[in-house]
Amino acid sequence: MEKAEALKKLNEKWFTQCICELKKTATQPVPGDGNADAKVVFVGEAPGKNEDLEGRPFVGAAGKFLAEMLESIKMERKDIYITNIVKYRPPNNRDPESSEKEACAPWLYEELNLIAPKLIVFLGRHSMNDFFPELKISDAHGKLIIKKFKHITTSHFLPLYHPAAALYNGGMRETLLEDFKKISLALKKINTQ
Ligand code: URA
Repeated sequence: MEKAEALKKLNEKWFTQCICELKKTATQPVPGDGNADAKVVFVGEAPGKNEDLEGRPFVGAAGKFLAEMLESIKMERKDIYITNIVKYRPPNNRDPESSEKEACAPWLYEELNLIAPKLIVFLGRHSMNDFFPELKISDAHGKLIIKKFKHITTSHFLPLYHPAAALYNGGMRETLLEDFKKISLALKKINTQ
């Protein structure tokens, strides 16, 4: 079975199996989206209002900004896969709770292991802290981390600021643009290893 087909089946399975409490208030699940053969997977926090209505991640303002950042390194959304740690919108866009993250975690790990990208890019501290609880995004952003986890096949990680945080902050926008260049550098480095 092709990866795209396997991913579709995986998501359909989790639509019924996921026990996240946010299911009760969200309009619909927002599964990951994009290229199942991607070398890079981006992991955001949780769907917002637009994503909840459309059923696709990063379709709102943060998504448009992300597309701009991708363009700056000559990548497009069709080259990557993008998902969230939590697959349902938290009410009023509050931060997801630990129990909600835990309920969605096996879904995230399965999709990451099916795609098995060379690099996982964290968008913001929430997704980074899911894997590296000890790190601060202000120190870790733009720095490649190599670590072998038992539950994840990918061993290269790059934390970035969340595009929503940089949207209206000129300084952070520049930092994010600079950090995006590290994606291409990291891929080159991984390819020569
Ligand atoms: N922010 C996220 O973290 N995820 C989305 O899907 C949209 C906005």
